[in-house]
Amino acid sequence: MSKRILTGLKPTGELTLGNYIGAILPFIEMQKDFDDVFLFVADLHALTVYQDPKVLRDRIKRFVAMYVACGVDPEKTTIYIQSENEYIPAISWILECNTYYGEASRMIQFKEKSKGKENFSVGLLTYPVLMATDILFCDADYVPVGEDQKQHVELTRDIAERFNRLYGETFKIPIPYITERGTKIKDLKDPTKKMSKSEENPNGVISMYDDKNTIIKKIKGATTDSDMTIKFDEEKKPGISNLLNIASVISGKSIEELEKEFADKNYGEFKSYVGEVTANRLEEIQKKYNDIIASGELDRILDKGAEKTRKLAKEKFQTVKEKVGTIR
Ligand code: AMP
Ligand code: TRP
Repeated sequence: MSKRILTGLKPTGELTLGNYIGAILPFIEMQKDFDDVFLFVADLHALTVYQDPKVLRDRIKRFVAMYVACGVDPEKTTIYIQSENEYIPAISWILECNTYYGEASRMIQFKEKSKGKENFSVGLLTYPVLMATDILFCDADYVPVGEDQKQHVELTRDIAERFNRLYGETFKIPIPYITERGTKIKDLKDPTKKMSKSEENPNGVISMYDDKNTIIKKIKGATTDSDMTIKFDEEKKPGISNLLNIASVISGKSIEELEKEFADKNYGEFKSYVGEVTANRLEEIQKKYNDIIASGELDRILDKGAEKTRKLAKEKFQTVKEKVGTIR
């Protein structure tokens, strides 16, 4: 039997080269191994902290278009927007009533995000239950997540098992599928920290929307070291190692091949190469991105995804209502 795999993306920042290499490319690899894949924009999750409505609205569509432009195949993968499925919050309420306050308040992410704050939303606490609903409404088998989300998938299992015990078999028990193996891309200006969309200094971060010249300039300005050799050594040469990682993923050449190729070249020549291959790749992606936006294809993809997943969620909602007795 085919296995369903599901993952959600929280639209709370612009996509970076780090997201591309660490999340989008691994997702595209995984798409080849499974024939039933769900990918959705977790926009209701983004609302746990204030978002500018105009920015959020644009970003939701941009996320989908960028994933498709990068190679997510909408024929194979069911793509949808969480908030277009009104059954999800409805199921989530019933699951909230079957989740202990103690369980929810023990979540590490909740503790971190609420720490020291006087006012944070109740949604921050119930966030993992909504995530449980995302996973359970469609009977997902595997949930690829980073280490930081694993606890939420474990809570999902606990909620589902308890519900099944109390009301009879209703939910499939999902398995977290840890995806921390992807290459971590570092900030170009400070290669000891992760390239992150929330970074203040834009020169260290390549956005998926940066133009060719900007990308080449940012890579030229990357922090390196005073040594002169192009060798992979994350401890002693974090800047050069980071550029080798980027070049390797984008060019498809191994780190060793690149080290050999640039053995008697200087940092300037190496940076020009990394800048060039990266800029060319992003230029290709941006071209597809613009085509997708202009063609109206995005709406067709999202309408199809919404229709399919609303049907599944409606059925699950009906079952859950029958189980708990909220039915006429
Ligand atoms: P975030 O942008 O932190 O919400 O993360 C979304 C996804 O992108 C997660 O799967 C992260 O592991 C991945 N990701 C974000 N930044 C990087 C980075 N600099 N290098 C590799 N993966 C990243
Ligand atoms: N909570 C996830 C994050 O912050 C996003 C998410 C929401 C998700 N629902 C999900 C991921 C269901 C996997 C499955 O990144």
